[in-house]
Amino acid sequence: MSAIPPGARLLVTGGAGFIGSCYVRDVLARRDGTQVIVLDKLTYAGNRANLAAVEADAEQAARLTFVRGDIADPAVVGPLVAEADAVLNFAAESHVDRSILDPAAFLRTGVEGVHVLLEAVRRESERAASGQRPRPPRFLQVSTDEVYGSVATGFSREGDPLGPRSPYAAAKAAGELLAWSYHVTYGLDVVITRGSNTYGPYHHPEKLIPLFVTNAIDDRPLPLYGDGLQVRDWLYVADHAGAIDHVLRNGAAGEIYNVPGSHLVPNREVVALLLGLLGKPWSLVRLVEDRPGHDRRYAMDGAKLAALGWTNRVGFADGLAATIDWFRANEAWWRAARSGEWDAYYERQYAGRIANAEVAPVAPGDLADGIGA
Ligand code: NAD
Ligand code: TYD
Repeated sequence: MSAIPPGARLLVTGGAGFIGSCYVRDVLARRDGTQVIVLDKLTYAGNRANLAAVEADAEQAARLTFVRGDIADPAVVGPLVAEADAVLNFAAESHVDRSILDPAAFLRTGVEGVHVLLEAVRRESERAASGQRPRPPRFLQVSTDEVYGSVATGFSREGDPLGPRSPYAAAKAAGELLAWSYHVTYGLDVVITRGSNTYGPYHHPEKLIPLFVTNAIDDRPLPLYGDGLQVRDWLYVADHAGAIDHVLRNGAAGEIYNVPGSHLVPNREVVALLLGLLGKPWSLVRLVEDRPGHDRRYAMDGAKLAALGWTNRVGFADGLAATIDWFRANEAWWRAARSGEWDAYYERQYAGRIANAEVAPVAPGDLADGIGA
């Protein structure tokens, strides 16, 4: 077990993204002296506004340093890792559909970037071994259930074989295998988390839940892939961030921890629930051409994380209602996220699919068939 000392300095890469910024907000809000350095490239998915609440609070802002930069740049990474007690790597290209359109950036950040971070951690670990710093930095790699691939039945356990099936998932698998190899080969203090589908405030509107919520607010069509019966296990963002912090402080070096959600459910049911909460009709839904290689089902066994003492706090009904409230109250945030390159992305991803949607929408009353994981 690694000691993260009081007043620790945490290097949080990707800390301006969805889950990373939740982690930063929640850790700084504890007011326990923890210092956070965020390293973020501010891609289309990164947003300084996600840290606005922290920057508006003098005590928290004094413990946050923001650096705009690339985890694949050794000149940027080296000095930041030298100052850190732990490195939490949230940085990634994170959207499966974009990885299908254009995989290159996924490999650069997910593989080369992880390698650059690990080399810096390795150097600092050598300095610790020769007494030049008190202890080596711990490295936490934020990974995903998608590395297991599609699981038709049962629940993936940490020792199961990996079977990633999208460029995104393959890059994530490569990144975590590299991290694991640095633990085995060089003795680095590495822990890995595999989180499930996460949702909540500040979620980029390209992903299922925020896309459908924001489209529905504007009475735009909701493009549901294939038959909409793909199953995901939804994890509220504060629970995901909390589980990552729990593993950082309590996980054993070289161990991998699944972070399951609290609700295993087909996409159609998620859509029916969110439309109900928004008071919008099912007739907005279009069944569109499926995602190539679409994973049918993800489901993980959470016994190992539970044994470490972690329990999720937020159920899906409450989390979804809170998420919808947040999107309703923060229209300026999501309209800004749906600007710039958004229109070109949306056109490329959805225009043809929506134009060609042929299957008649299913009425919510008919949803009972095939629903229920
Ligand atoms: P996100 O896309 O919202 O945020 C990613 C952040 O990383 C952005 O701020 C972006 O600017 C930054 N970034 C990208 N490339 C970078 C680079 N080369 N250098 C520095 N910063 C860079 O993603 P998210 O949903 O918050 O996911 C965070 C992590 O959690 C990712 O590693 C993702 O694979 C993993 N994960 C996500 C989910 C999910 O459902 N969202 C589930 C499990 C695991
Ligand atoms: P997504 O939020 O992209 O997460 P992931 O692919 O990492 O699971 O998608 C969640 C599910 O919703 C997945 O089965 C794909 C589906 N989906 C749609 O049906 N339509 C959409 O427009 C999007 C973005 C996703």
